[in-house]
Amino acid sequence: MGMFGREQLAMMVRPDRVHRALYSDPAIFELEMQRLFGRAWLVVGHESQIPAAGDFLTTRMGRDPVIVTRHADGTVKVMINRCSHRGSTVCEDARGHCAEFVCPYHGWTYRTDGSLRFVPLAHGYGRDVERKKSELGLVNVPRVESYRGFLFASLAADGPTLSDFLGPLSSSFDDMVDRAPDGEVEVAGGVFKHAYHGNWKLVLENHLDGLHPNYVHASSVQAARDAPDPAQPERYADIAIRQMRQNGAPEAIWESIGIWTTDFGHGYMADYHSDSRLVVGMDNPVFAGYRERLEHKIGKERAAKVLSVTRWNSIVYPNCSFMGQFRQLRIVHPLAVDRTIVYTYSFRLKGAPEQMYRDTIAFANVVNGTASWVLTDDLEVYERVQKGLTAQAGDWVYLARGYGGDADDAGRTRRGATGTSELPIRSQFAAWLRYMTAE
Ligand code: FES
Ligand SMILES: [Fe+2]
Repeated sequence: MGMFGREQLAMMVRPDRVHRALYSDPAIFELEMQRLFGRAWLVVGHESQIPAAGDFLTTRMGRDPVIVTRHADGTVKVMINRCSHRGSTVCEDARGHCAEFVCPYHGWTYRTDGSLRFVPLAHGYGRDVERKKSELGLVNVPRVESYRGFLFASLAADGPTLSDFLGPLSSSFDDMVDRAPDGEVEVAGGVFKHAYHGNWKLVLENHLDGLHPNYVHASSVQAARDAPDPAQPERYADIAIRQMRQNGAPEAIWESIGIWTTDFGHGYMADYHSDSRLVVGMDNPVFAGYRERLEHKIGKERAAKVLSVTRWNSIVYPNCSFMGQFRQLRIVHPLAVDRTIVYTYSFRLKGAPEQMYRDTIAFANVVNGTASWVLTDDLEVYERVQKGLTAQAGDWVYLARGYGGDADDAGRTRRGATGTSELPIRSQFAAWLRYMTAE
């Protein structure tokens, strides 16, 4: 690599701008896979996807394919999905249950902790294979931890603990899980997958960008304004109408909401439009039933506190964006400098009325579905940005909105000058530079 030394990288990240190469240069992307995705804690899944011994799912850590398993002893293992013989992935199923993984190429067989159990015609490989069997298992990812059911792994043996990494951002996971009357959430339904021809950073920047909806989503806002007003009780389509109308909130409202960042490039948007309310239709009868169940389980006072949180998207840098209000979690898979896939999962609040889950599905279809009016607009803009930043003219990408007005908040957070401050992007690049230049 060597093309980009540490000083050169540092010159490309200024307080209020970054060099376009960070989005468009394949050599930078390769470095990111090693230094950023190779070091950070990455969200790999949720405990509910692998409840029993032998359950597994496959995903990626950065570009590396991995298998996440529940081993016989109950522990979660994360292993590189690469056969120790000649390198084939040993499993391509998204999710399943098995006693062992058999490589499809020549039958090397691995246990659910990755250890090598059996090699067909082992003698044919020479004495070496028998002797080295213990070293020829699937490579285990060195660090695996979970926070309130969410599974994280790091490809680096050393580094900050998960708790230090998450810092104040852990409260966004708390918000999502505390909303469940039974105190747990579970992955439910299918997975939306959307690919775009653009850099992986674009989606994490966009999810905390309160200025774009009035422009990017203008056509769906107009369609929602033309539609009949939401009914009481809500119909399925009303969630779409409310969401799209809210995207057209006046700029003064977007300016007034809160936006925070933490160390390691994380961030969240809160105080989301408090009324006519995106926050899960608090006035509708279904919500009243849900509130009752929550109060029954955790008490009136605590329930009021839990429901008073109006947090919108939270970003766990560099691979996850999630939100508790409608229980969506998106994992970002970088494939190449200009190619990304995002997987979206929906969660069920354990102990909540079934209608709450229907709301989740309605929201998922409206905002994260592949035929969504909202998502398709965002995807087009990502591809336009990529196209523009691949052009040779102009070196800098400006991230100056709100620069100079951000302030340290109580604790370990920083608050944007206004709700449309580009603080989250500046903070993501500050973290980026630390990862990319650390020894
Ligand atoms: S590549 Fe897996 S057994 Fe040969
Ligand atoms: Fe958007």
